[in-house]
Amino acid sequence: MTTVVDRWDVHPEHRWLRGERAERAIVFDESDGLWNVYGYAECREMLGDHRTFSSGTARLLPVSVEASLIEGDLSQMDPPQHRKFRKLLTPAFSPKLIAAMEPRITAITEGLLDGVEGKPEIELVADLAYPLPVIVIAELLGVPASDRDMFKGWADNVIESFSGFSSLDTEQGAEDIREGTERLQPLLEYLAGHIAERRRHPREDLMTQLATAEIDGERLTDNEAVNIANIMLITGHITTSMVLGNTVLCLDAYPEQAERVRADRALVPGAIEEALRLLPPSTVLTRATETEAEIGGQRIPKDQLIFLWLGAGNRDPREFTDPGRYDPARDPNPHFGFGWGIHFCIGAGLARLEGRIALNALLDRFPALRTDPASPPGFFDTPDMIGVNRLPLRTT
Ligand code: HEM
Repeated sequence: MTTVVDRWDVHPEHRWLRGERAERAIVFDESDGLWNVYGYAECREMLGDHRTFSSGTARLLPVSVEASLIEGDLSQMDPPQHRKFRKLLTPAFSPKLIAAMEPRITAITEGLLDGVEGKPEIELVADLAYPLPVIVIAELLGVPASDRDMFKGWADNVIESFSGFSSLDTEQGAEDIREGTERLQPLLEYLAGHIAERRRHPREDLMTQLATAEIDGERLTDNEAVNIANIMLITGHITTSMVLGNTVLCLDAYPEQAERVRADRALVPGAIEEALRLLPPSTVLTRATETEAEIGGQRIPKDQLIFLWLGAGNRDPREFTDPGRYDPARDPNPHFGFGWGIHFCIGAGLARLEGRIALNALLDRFPALRTDPASPPGFFDTPDMIGVNRLPLRTT
């Protein structure tokens, strides 16, 4: 998809977006002591083997992350602990409950788009892609959706502070983590207030489920409940917002594919999956070797920090035919946009539903929707994520 990248100012470290591939599937970087994985098969093998490639990476970071921040963070856990925590959340994301949210998500989408009806220009992120997922996740958790401007401030702060994440051994990376941790505090306090309130006055919401949940007969600690709520609230909306923006950018870059999708709405889910493959919001995942490993002809010692570049794996020509092409009808499309294996995104069904409803609504309302070279999109300035934070679109 050189078109999106050639036209707009995406982060220079997203080399694979420009069709560049690393010489090897796994590359050790002597300058920072990190292992980088670019191959599809290698990423998949690692994501499928938690015994060798653990999610508990915090222990290897050059700066210590406060233990209180990690408690309850299931993306840092391995089995059996991971299974127990994940089980607490899966009922809220069952296919049946997610499907039941369709009328409400449609109503929110239509309400937001009513607000921009008849305008010659919309700003997709502010008008739809940001508020939609944040309202949905706030309602699911049971926190006031009207606080969403506050969530946005906190989320932007966190992304900005952690932008040095992939160069962790530098002083800047360490400073970023410290700053990010500090900036997270108001959000954690806000969520702690809600958890405490639900312990006193239970309601019918996910916050109450977290406040009252038990594992092995013990109630979650305040920290655990708060950190889970934090992951839901922040990752649950930033990524979904990015995927909607990225899908619209892909369709804009490939007008013939956009016409195809407009003419055959059965291709809408495929249009979203293909955007997730080419522009995955979570570009990189980390794992830590628990033991020495032999993979892709490379020997990786114990206790190594590994970066799995999902965006590169998603463009591996060994797995995807014509990998740079945006094809909403690609089938199969086993991309890593939602991860792979036991940590596969718990919110994938919800994100897909929101994406489908929102994209259909945009196509229904706007027969012509295009970017404006005079008012280009803005991307989050981090190598760890790909997504727009501003996307002005002409509607005529
Ligand atoms: C398009 C939107 C989304 C994308 C691209 C995305 C991406 C991902 C990825 C790549 C992972 C794997 C992490 C790993 O293996 O270390 C993940 C896990 C997770 N996601 Fe999502 N996500 C999205 C939406 C959501 C939503 C809407 C929610 C919740 C409301 C959510 C909650 C989670 C949770 C709790 C995990 C951790 C699962 C585990 O460790 O078992 N995500 N997500």
